Amino acid sequence: MLETARLDPHPHSHALADARGRVLHDLRISVTDKCNFRCTYCMPEDRYPHDHEFLSRHDLLTFEEIARFTRLAIGMGVSKVRITGGEPLLRKNLPVLIEMLANLPGLGDLALTTNGILLPRFAKSLRDAGLRRVTISLDTLDPAVFASMSGQSTGPDAVLAAIDHAAALGFAPIKINAVVQRGVNEDHVVDLAARFRGTGHIVRFIEYMDVGTCNGWTPDQVVPSRETLARIHARFPVEPLDKNYHGEVAERYRYTDGAGEIGFISSVSEPFCGACTRARLSADGKVFLCLFAADGVDVRTALRNGATDAELAALLEETWRKRDDRYSELRATAARTPAGRVEMYHIGG
Ligand code: GTP
Ligand code: 5AD
Ligand code: SF4
Ligand code: SF4
Repeated sequence: MLETARLDPHPHSHALADARGRVLHDLRISVTDKCNFRCTYCMPEDRYPHDHEFLSRHDLLTFEEIARFTRLAIGMGVSKVRITGGEPLLRKNLPVLIEMLANLPGLGDLALTTNGILLPRFAKSLRDAGLRRVTISLDTLDPAVFASMSGQSTGPDAVLAAIDHAAALGFAPIKINAVVQRGVNEDHVVDLAARFRGTGHIVRFIEYMDVGTCNGWTPDQVVPSRETLARIHARFPVEPLDKNYHGEVAERYRYTDGAGEIGFISSVSEPFCGACTRARLSADGKVFLCLFAADGVDVRTALRNGATDAELAALLEETWRKRDDRYSELRATAARTPAGRVEMYHIGG
């Protein structure tokens, strides 16, 4: 423990550092691999028809298993938790899990990433259960492009209504995630910025990444953040802001006229592996150490075989200590991972 404390740039009594000195700080929990969207960059419809077989109920960690794991992860230094999917609102009784997690001592931040469609139905009970922050995906305001990017017949209006609904309930700040793809929605970024200026919501523009194996990613489909920034700056001047916390993935900017904040997530053009403090727990109980890992470390077996808290904690500690992943930094080099990669909907964004 003394050894890890020495490596920690942000001293914390439980700081646990990986092989590159990165301290475990965030846990992203996927609660289902199902989704009611078929985004072309994540779960394209031709690969995932609506009768595709997702994880079975028995495969999924129970809420008790998730909460126990999270409690132990908090003991190892985690203070931020994000619930993801697939689409997390498809998990039955999700507010029950939110309440269990919100009551864990030591948890500083609990947030949820959703495509928004089911949010009006659950927002109130999620809020009552203790959720305070939501991030909603919205790539474009153009109905036809929205339909083709999301594989949905509905347009963006349902997502806009969900954002308003969440805001009215007091979720704040609401973040809007937009994946930008060359030749698809690169021209729509100024409209998105304009729509949310002055609302207090924070739009973040995300470079299209080569996650998973089925989106057919090629480098020329990536719009570098500096280009998106230039488009927005030409219309609404912005200036940079400092990061909110060590390891934040978004570069923050604010409108010089005071109309609020936007962000850029540039994992292709400017990888941020050096400060990556995130562990991911898949819905079937594997700990993934990188978005681009081929596989994760099974903790479900230990959870179900009567492992003690100390044994589980030791498993997590050993897993994190060995961690050496930095895929985005290696992407352009010969050292890039040759093996298969987990799909985004399996471990969340
Ligand atoms: P907060 O700061 O807690 O609001 O969240 P965040 O900035 O981490 O944002 P969010 O969880 O919404 O992540 C936004 C997007 O950033 C994800 O959907 C991914 O596309 C990308 N992202 C997040 N974490 C990583 C990461 O560890 N590696 C890479 N390469 N991309 C990431
Ligand atoms: N590149 C970048 N971001 C992605 N997401 C999913 N797939 C990709 C990809 N290939 C992000 C989207 C969505 C979140 C759940 O994951 O932003 O909002
Ligand atoms: Fe579903 Fe999100 Fe993947 Fe789109 S990006 S298919 S909304 S999990
Ligand atoms: Fe972290 Fe892997 Fe993303 Fe790098 S590529 S920031 S190591 S999840």
